[in-house]
Amino acid sequence: MTKIRAAITGIGANLPEYILTNDELSRMVDTSDEWIMTRIGIKTRHIIREPGKGSSDVGAAAVNMLLKKTGAKPEEIDLLICATVTPDHQFPATANIICDKVGIKNAFSFDLNAGCSGFLYALSAASKFVESGNYKKVVVVGAEKMSSIVDYTDRATCPIFGDGSGAVLLEPTTDPEIGIMDEILQSDGVGRVHLHQKAGGSVNPASHQTIDARQHFIYQEGQAVFKWAVSKMADVSVEMMEKHQLTPETLAWLVPHQANNRIIEAVANRMKLPKEKVMINIEKYGNTTAATLPLCLWEWEPRLKKGDNIILSTFGAGFTWGAIYLKWAYDSN
Ligand code: UT7
Repeated sequence: MTKIRAAITGIGANLPEYILTNDELSRMVDTSDEWIMTRIGIKTRHIIREPGKGSSDVGAAAVNMLLKKTGAKPEEIDLLICATVTPDHQFPATANIICDKVGIKNAFSFDLNAGCSGFLYALSAASKFVESGNYKKVVVVGAEKMSSIVDYTDRATCPIFGDGSGAVLLEPTTDPEIGIMDEILQSDGVGRVHLHQKAGGSVNPASHQTIDARQHFIYQEGQAVFKWAVSKMADVSVEMMEKHQLTPETLAWLVPHQANNRIIEAVANRMKLPKEKVMINIEKYGNTTAATLPLCLWEWEPRLKKGDNIILSTFGAGFTWGAIYLKWAYDSN
């Protein structure tokens, strides 16, 4: 029997209008454009400012763009998975809300939380539904309002994160030259101490005390996370190259999670990849957590060619990490 693979057949994205610059951050905390650019590599990040707007709003806008671009009708979508660490509510799932906002009525939908690896994990999960042959049009959306959990008095974390969303459509293909080829996904809960939100969950529900102690924001031990991220992202990316005999010449693109320019450079160096083959837009958008990978694919889409060998690679809270190898499915031009 011919093998069914899942292929990305379109991309949409959305970035909120408001742009938070390093200069503005420098007026909020003791930091500078020079420190942020040298240590992280971020100039600007987009932020949702309108009261009452959440991750589902950027998510729905990205999915609307995706549907418009691909010509897929909302009622044709079978499944939507939303990767996010900043859901609109604890429940119901932001995926349910996005479906409602864009008129997706014949699908089931759920959220997936794997920190900054959320989009990668969701892409893997979605591909399995497509490969089963029972689901023909599946949407994977990464949507975040990171600004809702960033402490803008903490200079160690507030320059890093941004809001935004990216969405892809997955469809079945029997063409052996395109689609999602392989994945290496891993997690290790020992890493939770280094990167988490202290309160608001079942262990430490919201109270006056948790709010006074500023425990509803991102807590990160940057250096520990940095070391893990470099080593694990590089390990899985190199392992994927070796497994499929990919070389720096035959690999067209690395799509790395955008957490820190220095992490991206270290991973690319281990893979012996020239900078020209690495998608980097952290300077403009910062770390949008589950949205970084689709925001890269969206921005580079006009340059992608059918059959391009692409490795997506991430590391995030959990810890979670992994790599997906895919062959791009279409020429944009
Ligand atoms: O996406 C999920 C995964 N997350 C990541 O992969 C993030 C990984 N970690 C990192 O990217 C980096 O560790 C950070 C960007 C978070 C921090 O960079 P760093 O080079 O590790 O800085 P550091 O925490 O070691 O701090 C170095 C110095 C400290 O001052 P002293 O103790 O040397 O005097 C900090 O207080 O830089 C200081 N500092 C700042 N200075 C100016 C920390 N934040 C700032 C700031 N502006 N915003």
